[in-house]
Amino acid sequence: MPYLDDFRAEIEAFLTRTGISPTRLGKEAVGDPRFVFDLREKGRAPGARLMDAVADFMARHETPATARTSLGEAPLEGKTILLIISGGIAAYKVLDLIRRLGERGARVCPVMTRTAQEFLTPLSVGTLAGGKVFIDLFDRDDEHDVGHIRLAREADVIVVAPATADLLAKMAGGHANDLATAVLLATDKPVLAAPAMNPRMWLHPATRRNVEALGRDGIRFVGPNTGEMAEANEAGPGRMAEPLEILAAIARILVPSGMPLTGKHVLVTSGPTHEPIDPVRYLANRSSGRQGHAIAAAAAAAGARVTLVSGPVAVADPDGVDVIHVETAREMRDAVVAALPADVAVMAAAVADWRVANEASGKIKKNSSGGSPALALVENPDILATIGKHETLRPTLVVGFAAETDDLASNARKKLEAKGADWILANDVSPGTGIMGGEENVIRLVTAAGIEDWPRLAKTEVAQRLIARVGEMLRHKSEAAE
Ligand code: CTP
Repeated sequence: MPYLDDFRAEIEAFLTRTGISPTRLGKEAVGDPRFVFDLREKGRAPGARLMDAVADFMARHETPATARTSLGEAPLEGKTILLIISGGIAAYKVLDLIRRLGERGARVCPVMTRTAQEFLTPLSVGTLAGGKVFIDLFDRDDEHDVGHIRLAREADVIVVAPATADLLAKMAGGHANDLATAVLLATDKPVLAAPAMNPRMWLHPATRRNVEALGRDGIRFVGPNTGEMAEANEAGPGRMAEPLEILAAIARILVPSGMPLTGKHVLVTSGPTHEPIDPVRYLANRSSGRQGHAIAAAAAAAGARVTLVSGPVAVADPDGVDVIHVETAREMRDAVVAALPADVAVMAAAVADWRVANEASGKIKKNSSGGSPALALVENPDILATIGKHETLRPTLVVGFAAETDDLASNARKKLEAKGADWILANDVSPGTGIMGGEENVIRLVTAAGIEDWPRLAKTEVAQRLIARVGEMLRHKSEAAE
């Protein structure tokens, strides 16, 4: 069950982040010390209530510091988010969303539809949200106050997650036969929907029509993502966006101009490329993708729309970023060019300089006479130069890296010129520096104006510093143009 993979991955990430043992999680969350081990070994899906209890435990035990990621850090202090939860398997992810909203200072006011309560208990939702959960149109306590009108009025934004096909249809039709739909009809606040449904339902002409109509009504959407579905052998668009993606979309609505890269498109390459020799072998390098992925995440956190073109890496896709996975340099070049126009391009990939001239269609066998195969190499396209010298779609700012072992500054200057880049982040990748594949980086920023030495920093800090510089540069440029 694919959603189970998500759930398992979340548990593993939680255990790594917090250092809590699997036995403790199982024992304290669901009274079964073997719960995590069984989940790992047997792969059987636990019931919704057990998943709910585990998600609840994780939410309670994650400290704000460990839970925070670089995305969606926008301050939501003092904002009220009316969260409408409708019924779907993705509802379990909403607990995480509530927790993250709370960490950022938002007040979450949950409304659950009747079917949502089959997936989550109002008790766990209310505990996380730290207040009342609204579940019924005719709530005795709120009736006199015309509760739905008050709810609709008090919110800064209304988020529908998961938004089922049925609820979208009701919204499009202007129904108001339960609290959720009544609130949605009574509001004049921005509404963000995170659809979650089977791909066939999402692609059905009726849903297409409803989504289109809702778009015209000003409803905004986050997701759905494409991937495996809860049902066996179902794949396609329909998976609810991840909590961090929803959070970033909320932040974009509530603090639209407070972020330095709002409205900008940032294109990033990352990781190595693999150049096939035959069907089982390839040429590659030691790039981990950490630096490029951190830059993509930092740009998204600064409000940019980000396209990340990544070679094969073991690091996870950053949340809130459009990721295009490629293998070879030529695929990377094509994906990068197809993603233009962009305001900023940061080419952090360690692209293989050469590929094998004649890739063998079958596995190359050892020769009985002991001879070894001669591999003729041809040069790969230079992606940074392609972008830096693009005649019509050159981004405003083109940034490259220079991985050097000798004559760092002069080689970086040459690359700046030769590839038409504005900035080069030069780093010493000599053996012993631990930079290639490591967690840290030592950067010399080379521009036409000179060289600036940065201290040894974590790759995430390099990314934040770079993105801050990018924001400043774009601001100066737009001020100068005014
Ligand atoms: N780059 C690229 N396409 C290539 C080779 C490099 O886009 N085919 C980009 C890298 O992403 C990086 C910059 O060019 O931003 C410099 O990469 P580097 O490996 O340091 O330089 P090379 O051009 O490969 O030169 P050399 O290996 O000879 O130092």
